[in-house]
Amino acid sequence: MVRLDKFLCDCNMGTRSQIKDYIRQGLVSVNGIIVKKPELKIHESNDNVTLRGESCTFKKYAYYMLYKPAGVVSATTDNTADTVISLLADVKDKNLFPVGRLDKDTTGLLLITNDGDLSHHMLSPKKHVDKTYLVGIRNPLTLEDKTRLEQGVDIGDEKLTLPAVVSFPNQVTEECAQILLTIHEGRFHQVKRMLQAVDNEVVTLKRVSFGPLTLDVSLAPGQYRELNEQEVEACMKC
Ligand code: URA
Repeated sequence: MVRLDKFLCDCNMGTRSQIKDYIRQGLVSVNGIIVKKPELKIHESNDNVTLRGESCTFKKYAYYMLYKPAGVVSATTDNTADTVISLLADVKDKNLFPVGRLDKDTTGLLLITNDGDLSHHMLSPKKHVDKTYLVGIRNPLTLEDKTRLEQGVDIGDEKLTLPAVVSFPNQVTEECAQILLTIHEGRFHQVKRMLQAVDNEVVTLKRVSFGPLTLDVSLAPGQYRELNEQEVEACMKC
């Protein structure tokens, strides 16, 4: 059993104070009867709760795609900088965490959830989930270096990196060249160390896809949206 206002909050129907107002305004009904007491105890799975006629279902897990901007850290708390979780300020009481990390200066797609199983699944070294980065690099990449990155390079770990895929999305710009790099593992600072291994340097780094997810072009840096059911299912199966 759970309080009606908490239940509606968990269903993402608004903030706790908005929800209390909705209830007092008579916009909420339980099993067809309008209820005006936020403290009423309801049964999450048996009672049929509606807000303005829309059925509310409790979702145990939440999944968001965040366009991580530069300057925020991929953590739940930090003493010195804003965290990716603080960007989801509208989402309350969900115990959210980022699935893996992007460096503070890296931008792009970050999956945020409270589903530990899905996170383990997508980060498991055994699964080799693809991650694609748009990488701005100091010097144009030679075809020889492209082949080296694709075959695996020594970045100072026990093993070479796994074979990767490199393509050229654009022409060389004045300041830096750009490559699209897909890797199948997630070692610490992997992309930066891979480019160092071919005597180059990462200037900008943006993750454009993670497993079956592609960064939504309608999101601006700092914005997020919920994953749809198909996307969640695809993550579970990848
Ligand atoms: N590789 C890096 O070097 N940094 C990131 O943030 C992600 C991948």
